[in-house]
Amino acid sequence: MFDRHRLEQILNADYGYYSGPEPLCEVDDRFQPATADFIRSTLHPELAMLDVGCGSGATILSHADRLGSAVGIDTDADHVRLARRALSASGHTNVRFEQLGFEQATGPDWDDRFDLVICERGPIGYSAESVRVAIRLLKPEGALLVEMIGDLHHQEVAAAWGTRRRQPVNALDTVTVAFDRCDLDIRVAANLITRRFYPDVYEWLKFQCSIWAWSGRPLPEPDDPGLQRFVDRSADNTGRVVTTHHVVVVGGVKRCSK
Ligand SMILES: C[S@@+](CC[C@H](N)C(=O)[O-])C[C@H]1O[C@@H](n2cnc3c(N)ncnc32)[C@H](O)[C@@H]1O
Repeated sequence: MFDRHRLEQILNADYGYYSGPEPLCEVDDRFQPATADFIRSTLHPELAMLDVGCGSGATILSHADRLGSAVGIDTDADHVRLARRALSASGHTNVRFEQLGFEQATGPDWDDRFDLVICERGPIGYSAESVRVAIRLLKPEGALLVEMIGDLHHQEVAAAWGTRRRQPVNALDTVTVAFDRCDLDIRVAANLITRRFYPDVYEWLKFQCSIWAWSGRPLPEPDDPGLQRFVDRSADNTGRVVTTHHVVVVGGVKRCSK
């Protein structure tokens, strides 16, 4: 039985990708290298990094004191504004953010300029074409690292609402094949799976609403039967909601031309 008033409060809030009510959540990250660890392992004080689809700029800013220079690009004007605001607050002088699609990042300021290009859940990796464009931005021996949503991500939500995509090929294979087609020397190809714990269904719903709103899916009504199906599948015997988070990380190095 749900508390209808709490459901309505949550479902009527204003959600954006980086805004909305903050959910309480714990992450079980035992055995868990994360994308940030793969990025950190490549950094050095002269390194030039590009973040494609940089969003709020948090990734660049969290690494900015361990690299030479970094550029974040994103097509979303609001995200670039957020990133620039965070940059001014951080005081870093080796970082800039631009509103730009990666497809348009060509010419002497972009081609062959970067030691590391990253893309976390952004536009690179779904196709060999997107990887080919990213490679153009890399210096010889430069590295491309992409993080993509994995097939098991939010599987409890997909099961409750019957929205699981029928994917003949899984995400890890999709990116690995795209890298291979483009002759990148693949050094990392990993499925990273974590569990997240929300104290109750209401905290989980705050998180899920931001994802639904961002993906353009209408939020459910308070009496949506999917909510009960979701609880039946994902709550443990203390009422905690447990969800699966799955990302795929693939990293490769641009070979020197012979
Ligand atoms: C899921 S968000 C991830 C943002 C950020 N990487 C993060 O981890 O918080 C994907 C981002 O990619 C941006 N994006 C989508 N297509 C793009 C393109 N062609 N070039 C640059 N950015 C793009 C979106 O505007 C969005 O900010």
